[in-house]
Amino acid sequence: MGLNLKSRSFLTLLDFTAEEINYLLNLAAKLKADKYAGNFNKNLLDKNIALIFEKPSTRTRCAFVVASYDEGAHPEYLGKGDIQLGKKETVADTARVLGRMFDGIQFRGFSHNTVIELAKHSGVPVWNGLTDKYHPTQVLADFLTIKENFGELKGKKLCYVGDGRNNMANSLMIGAAKMGMDFRILAPKELFPQSEIVKNCKKIAQETNGKITLSSDINKAVKDVDVIYTDVWVSMGEETEFEKRINLLKSYQVNSKMMKVTGKDSTIFLHCLPAFHNRDTIVGEEIFQKYNLDAMEVSEKVFESSQSKVWDEAENRVHTIKAVMVATLG
Ligand code: CP
Ligand code: NVA
Repeated sequence: MGLNLKSRSFLTLLDFTAEEINYLLNLAAKLKADKYAGNFNKNLLDKNIALIFEKPSTRTRCAFVVASYDEGAHPEYLGKGDIQLGKKETVADTARVLGRMFDGIQFRGFSHNTVIELAKHSGVPVWNGLTDKYHPTQVLADFLTIKENFGELKGKKLCYVGDGRNNMANSLMIGAAKMGMDFRILAPKELFPQSEIVKNCKKIAQETNGKITLSSDINKAVKDVDVIYTDVWVSMGEETEFEKRINLLKSYQVNSKMMKVTGKDSTIFLHCLPAFHNRDTIVGEEIFQKYNLDAMEVSEKVFESSQSKVWDEAENRVHTIKAVMVATLG
């Protein structure tokens, strides 16, 4: 403890050391225990929080709102079409206006440059609630869940299965490298992450005794892992890609057969959610019919199994997001 993250923005885990990430995770665990005990410290009393959303959200939006109220702050939701961001007004101008009125700004949207611009010009902490490139607050919730199950992150084996070049794969790889984990991406070659980010993560992992491996071989990638993680095959904004992705990823579904390849009963399953785990859930019911699929990235059986910790993981969004706001603004 004893670290000072005041006034810092939270845009990517690349900007944070392992010590700082641990500090945020420990603070989140403490705030979680406090909440369970009915203690609210009102660390953000009367702060005003802007929540900008260009894309839809259940967990991230609700976590920021609940965390704000728990700590005595006032959140304001600014949805797509509500403000002039990047249309009638530049991002830099909007940032300067919001920075005069609000104490902190959350941004979820398309371009990672937008969140960088907001942080550069607003003069207040800006928190990345997902861009096309990164989803760092999600990784804090994932890591808290892993710590709750295994006690520590260092040396733990985590395999991310699916679209290896999306925001979740990027952010998990960075976080895992920083924390000295054995991180594997299991994906077809066409969906391997960009070489620049892999190179960077491998360099970080060298210093932390972590390991980064890319593989298309289920038996190699999943053997012995403590955590299997997957995400949707088609991220927000890529909806025209369904057909291509289904063809590329249908043999990489996380199902009971893949869980057995770990050789461990203690392996847990994580997913940032929302998940396409059965054909009744969905948007795009016709896609399930067309490809005769019962589920996409994860089978119903694994999703609903006792190895699946997705609800703890979703709850942990609120405790970890609260920690980020309290640490940077409280
Ligand atoms: N995991 C996640 O970010 O969920 P939402 O899209 O519902 O916020
Ligand atoms: N990769 C997904 C994550 C959703 C939380 C997306 O960007 O849609």
